[in-house]
Amino acid sequence: DHSLRRRVLAALGAGSTHRTAKGGAQQPLPGAGVVLFTGLSGSGKSTLARHLRDQLVEASDHRVTLLDGDVVRHHLSKGLGFSAEDRQTNVRRIGWVATQIASHGGLTICSPIAPFEVDRQEIAAMCAENGVQFLLVHVATPLEECERRDRKGLYARARAGEIPDFTGISSPYETPAHPDLRVDTTGRTIEEVGTEVWDLLAAHGLTT
Ligand code: PPS
Repeated sequence: DHSLRRRVLAALGAGSTHRTAKGGAQQPLPGAGVVLFTGLSGSGKSTLARHLRDQLVEASDHRVTLLDGDVVRHHLSKGLGFSAEDRQTNVRRIGWVATQIASHGGLTICSPIAPFEVDRQEIAAMCAENGVQFLLVHVATPLEECERRDRKGLYARARAGEIPDFTGISSPYETPAHPDLRVDTTGRTIEEVGTEVWDLLAAHGLTT
């Protein structure tokens, strides 16, 4: 029962908030927030994001939206390339949509590379302005491991000079200084790493 949960959480002062129609007191929205997975291509972001989405859907009546990097680029950001400017536009669009969804009670999981600190901070700021919880997960699988996996064959093509501005090869990835969680998927199963992610969300009231 959503209204009951809302009232209980209001009493506890937990969860995200939204303004009432009259612009008055903020009410907490249980389970609302934005989770941003950032990391190199092939680091495991999308797999972790999908795993988390599936777990949340199974565990509760969560309204979860997944904004995966590749999928977003086929729809919301169709036509954008990989220059610093286009990446910024892409990541900020994702952040804007995610914040809108969360400010209406949804939980949005995003998994773009999001290589620039300034854009990640912009998303955090958008969330803060809207009273929405924001969690940053750095999927810190090292470049050597991502390149060894090379699931899409993109690293080989980037090394051959066929893909310009490739993250980690010819375009920078700025390591997040203070993520809420940092995970390395090297030699670990998605279930193992997923448990750490789940625990982070649980600690912030996003799993119930
Ligand atoms: S960004 O930087 O956040 O805007 O990137 P994102 O939207 O997540 O897109 C990353 C996926 O696009 C593919 N791809 C590239 N990645 C990095 N650099 C270049 N130049 C590039 N060209 C294509 C790649 O498959 C990324 O997918 P993931 O899922 O991250 O491996």
